[in-house]
Amino acid sequence: MAKFIPVDTFDIVIFGGTGDLSRRKLLPALYHRFVDGQIPEASRIVGVSRSELSDADFRSLARDACKTSTGEDFDAKAWTQFEKLLSYACLDATKEDADWEALTSRLSDDDRPSIFYLAVTPKIYVPICQAIGKAGLAKGDARLVLEKPIGTDLESAKAINAGVGAVFSEDRIYRIDHYLGKETVQNLLVLRFGNTLFEPLWNRTAIDHIQITVAEDVGVGDRAGYYDSAGAVRDMVQNHLLQLLCLIAMEPPNSIEADEIRTEKIKVLNALRPVRSKYAGRDTVRAQYGPGTVNGEQVKGYLEELDEGESGTETFVALKAWVDNWRWSRVPFYLRTGKRMRSRHSEIVVQFREAPHAMFGEDQAHSNRLIIRLQPDEGVQLYVQIKEPGPGGLRVQSLPLNLSYAETFQVRYPDAYERLLMDVVRGNLALFMRREEVEEAWEWVDGLLEAWDDAKVPMRTYSAGLEDGPVESRMLLREDDRDWWSNGK
Ligand code: BG6
Repeated sequence: MAKFIPVDTFDIVIFGGTGDLSRRKLLPALYHRFVDGQIPEASRIVGVSRSELSDADFRSLARDACKTSTGEDFDAKAWTQFEKLLSYACLDATKEDADWEALTSRLSDDDRPSIFYLAVTPKIYVPICQAIGKAGLAKGDARLVLEKPIGTDLESAKAINAGVGAVFSEDRIYRIDHYLGKETVQNLLVLRFGNTLFEPLWNRTAIDHIQITVAEDVGVGDRAGYYDSAGAVRDMVQNHLLQLLCLIAMEPPNSIEADEIRTEKIKVLNALRPVRSKYAGRDTVRAQYGPGTVNGEQVKGYLEELDEGESGTETFVALKAWVDNWRWSRVPFYLRTGKRMRSRHSEIVVQFREAPHAMFGEDQAHSNRLIIRLQPDEGVQLYVQIKEPGPGGLRVQSLPLNLSYAETFQVRYPDAYERLLMDVVRGNLALFMRREEVEEAWEWVDGLLEAWDDAKVPMRTYSAGLEDGPVESRMLLREDDRDWWSNGK
């Protein structure tokens, strides 16, 4: 059974309270935590947006959102308790003459923490923060939560960080990367630093290379407007993939205190070798999906989904990265992410080197491989060489020691936002990004995008629904005599 330790009473204000993130993730996450008894009944959840809605309208929108997210498990009785926490304030927070009283009247006046969650476009992070400050709400233990992407490049990220930092001190800013809230991602820390088995081997002497894959079967859907200005590198690599790389590559932190972990992650970002124009065409692949079949359904290509019908934005990226330090010298990190691939699967593969002497002959073709599956079917597999049973000769097979979370723990898997929201209330910053992390990651990504421009790296295409995306992504590894890991192949 999962244990839920109740948090202290809090107020949370969601700017963009009627938007997509709020409906898909934030409101359901708060509902789940409430149903499990983790959120005290005196807490308040205030939705804010520009739409003219009543409290009752907002509750009904939230009810639909939570019902959609929970399906048959929706608990109508618990809902009647939960909805008492909800209220709504109509407010255009960027306007000088905005009526902040609509919001302040909904907040409590005791000394509980107020949490301001900006589920809005990053372009208005700074004006909203300034307005929060002017309304006198950034006081005491107030906290600010920012969604990624923090800006669109290093310069805009710095401007946002400086602007919000003028109102909230760094220790009260929670920059969310929801991948850090995924169970398996947190488990990476435990796997590496809670066992003696892996750490002595976790370096260039035993590891051949590392693969990080975040594949999605969905297309850009109704987010085309945002996505076309971002692309896979800004949307996924700058944050989720680099964060995973940091957790894999970092040195053991002294403790699990937020700053200890974050300092180690920043060192990895510092050690990431910039992508030079000269090698951009060789070490990276950018591509867009064309029409194809995904999960048995015929789907449009990326360009057909856009109003203009043309775009230079990548929906897939694969690249070879290097962490230039003692531990990882000459160990490539292969990263790839894409939309409209065959299935949704995210995993990290740690490929160990071959045994130095193949005494079992050809059969011993495979070396050890550790697979950390983030989704779906969260779990860990360690491939080892095993003798096939039977008296006829000695044949070796590579088979997994399999730890499936679902089978082992038999609990509902909390969404990443459930964990992260409760961490904000507890004041635990360990799973949130520090200012320098975001900026270092942008610096590297800006370099990659510039190298693409300089070297005119061609845009490849792939049919929607392909397992591995464009063929060039395969070639990237074949050039090094390696292959992407595909389950069972
Ligand atoms: C978001 C990206 O951060 O992560 C989306 O903006 C992407 O484009 C999503 O689809 C993937 O998250 P998850 O948790 O579904 O893997």
